[in-house]
Formats: sequence, structure tokens, C-alpha cells
Amino acid sequence: MTNYIPYSDNIEVQQSDEQQINNKIVESMARVNRLMYEKHRHAIRDAHAKSHGILKGELQIYDNLPEHIAQGLFKSPRSYPVIVRFSTAQGSIMPDKMSVFRGMAIKVIGVEGEKLLPELSDAVTQDFLLVNYPIIPTGTIKEYLAAQENIEKMADSGELLQQIGQKAAVGVQKVLAAVGLADDTNQLSAPGPHILGDTYFSMAALRYGDYVAKINVKPLSENVKALAGQKIDDQIIDNDEHAFLTEIIASFFQSGTAEYEMGAQLCTDLDSMPIEDGSVQWPEEKSPYQPVAKLVFHPQETFSAARRVYADDVLSFNPFHCLPEHRPLGNIMRVRRLAYERSSSYRHHMNAQERGEPQSIDELPE
Ligand code: HEM
Repeated sequence: MTNYIPYSDNIEVQQSDEQQINNKIVESMARVNRLMYEKHRHAIRDAHAKSHGILKGELQIYDNLPEHIAQGLFKSPRSYPVIVRFSTAQGSIMPDKMSVFRGMAIKVIGVEGEKLLPELSDAVTQDFLLVNYPIIPTGTIKEYLAAQENIEKMADSGELLQQIGQKAAVGVQKVLAAVGLADDTNQLSAPGPHILGDTYFSMAALRYGDYVAKINVKPLSENVKALAGQKIDDQIIDNDEHAFLTEIIASFFQSGTAEYEMGAQLCTDLDSMPIEDGSVQWPEEKSPYQPVAKLVFHPQETFSAARRVYADDVLSFNPFHCLPEHRPLGNIMRVRRLAYERSSSYRHHMNAQERGEPQSIDELPE
């Protein structure tokens, strides 16, 4: 019988100077973000600024899940509409030719019950934010602050702004490379594989009802499984170095239907699966990702002008916008509570947009 670690409120451990470090991270991100605003005269996200496709889909919770994974949102076999925003990780708008971490933000609609953030407690949505890498290389706020301070130092120099745009927040691994703290594996300059074949991860832990887990989403139907690791055609890249990721998503969904599977990796051992260090990959041989739900996307237009504006300027995705049963855990998660709020409110304020949580999937423009 597997020993799943039970969730308790004291499973998280406050770090020394945590509040101070968090404030420094968030202030620094906000300063760099203001430079980006000046560059574009439009406010963009502090991270994951560029969207590549906005999809309407369905999250189908599996029937007959065993008790340990039938938790929180996954308690009953229901189907929910979702909005998914694919992005790349920079806090700037750069050509797609730079291979950087990719994001998959999921907004589940129709979720009843009080939500964690007081200002959104009545919303009927719940967000999951995932990136196509199993861990966050700067897995603690201390490491994150060091990387962020280096980014800001470079951003202070006007002439470096362009370069910074390329290097800032391009996935922390790349950030470290950019500031000389890690090997640059040279993947930066090579376009990555097909974006629809990637597997996406929460990177760090969250509460999973009575337990603790990391979450992932991986290709399930054969057509997207076949895209995993698949090189993008040179001609498609050459045709549009700026926006070929947008193009390959749009052309897939002209006629394609895709299925992905959501899984939960439950913590079974706090030593090898720590909560306070997001850079540790939880060993799958000790605890595999267990299937909990299916995501289905039918043919649709994934990047209409109205959809892009709605997803980029109106919507916000926030890991703390969730049922209390899915609260993010660990110091690298806790700093996100303030960071997302700051980024989102600045963006909405500067673009004179009201922040809205959808009540229904019909609010997503076609
Ligand atoms: C721990 C793993 C992390 C994951 C999986 C993750 C994932 C994501 C994703 C997918 C988005 C795009 C959301 C969208 O489409 O609107 C995003 C945005 C963002 N991320 Fe993260 N992220 C992580 C860590 C962090 C950390 C440590 C910080 C800062 C301390 C951070 C700051 C931000 C900010 C400020 C935004 C933009 C929010 C907005 O303006 O709405 N992220 N992240």
C-alpha cells in the first residue's frame, strides 16, 4: 500500500527573510516590466507575455478514480469548459525562433465553491499554470532573486534592452545562462520542437485535497503524440520567424481534434520529493503521474484578433486562483501570490481594461 503524504497546514516551511526577498523579487520584476511598457506603449505580462494560441476545450474528469486521486476538482466525474492560453516564457515579445520555455495556462469554467483569493472568491473559475519542463531550475526564492537581480542590472542599460528582452525570463535555465551562472546548452538559438507535442508541468507542488502533488498535461491522442519532439519544418520557420508557433497551432486546429491527459504525481516521501525546493524532480519510479482527466480540443480558430485581445489584455491566469484544495505550496510558489497580482493589475490599469473572470465559455470570442 503506497504511503501518500497527507496534506497539513504546517507542511510548508517559511524561509528566513521570506517576505523581504519576495518584495525584492516583485519590485524588480515590476521595474523591468515598466521598461517593457515604455518599449511597446502597451502593458504586457511580466512573464509569458507572448501568446501563440487561445483554445476552447473541455476538461473531462475520469470516472471511478481511486480515493487518493479523486480529490478537489477531481472528486466527481464531470466535464468543464476550459480556456487554454499557450505562451512563451519571456516577459517581452520576441521572435518565435528563440527556443524558450513554453506555457500552458488553463482556466476551468463552472467550478463551484469558494476560491482561495478573497477578491475572486465568488468566481466560477479555477486556474492551472504549467510549463514544458518538469522542474523550476531556480527552485527557491533566494536563487530566483539572484537571477532576477542580474536581469534587472542588464535591463538598466538602454542599449541592452533588446538583448534583455531575449534573455529575461526565458525559462530560468536560460536566464542563468544569460547571466553566466549556468551552461548555455545552445538551445536558445534553435527553435524548439512542435509546441503541441510538449508535456507541461506545474514544476512545483500544490495541495491535492487530502494530499500533495505536482500536475502535468501530456499528449494523449495519436496526432499530438506524434508531434512530441518533432522538429518544426524549416520552411514554416523561414516563412515567419516571428510567429510560426501561432501558425502551427492555427493550422493544426483548422481540422484537427487533440486530446491530452492530465495527471497527478502524489508526494510519497518528503525527502526525495521536497515541497520547499522546486528544482528537485520528484522521481517517477517512486510515484508516477496518475491519470485524472482528459482535455479535448475540437477544430477552431485559435488566434482571431478578438481572442488574442481577450486572452492577452482581459484575462489573467493565477496559480492562487483556485479551490483551497489546490493551493500552491512551497516558497517558490508563495512568491507568485504577489507577483501575479502586481503584474496583472499594472497591465489592466495601463491598458485601461477591466479584469474579468468569465462566467461562461461563451465569453471567449470566436
Ligand atoms: C513555479 C513554476 C511556474 C510556472 C509553472 C509558471 C507558469 C506561468 C504561466 C503558464 C504563465 C502564463 C499565464 C498566462 O497565460 O496568462 C505565467 C505568467 C507569469 N508568471 Fe509564472 N510560472 C512559474 C513561476 C513563476 C515565478 C517564481 C514567478 C515570479 C516570482 C512568476 C511570475 C509570473 C508573472 C508575473 C506572470 C504574468 C502574470 C500576469 O500578468 O497575468 N512565475 N507563469
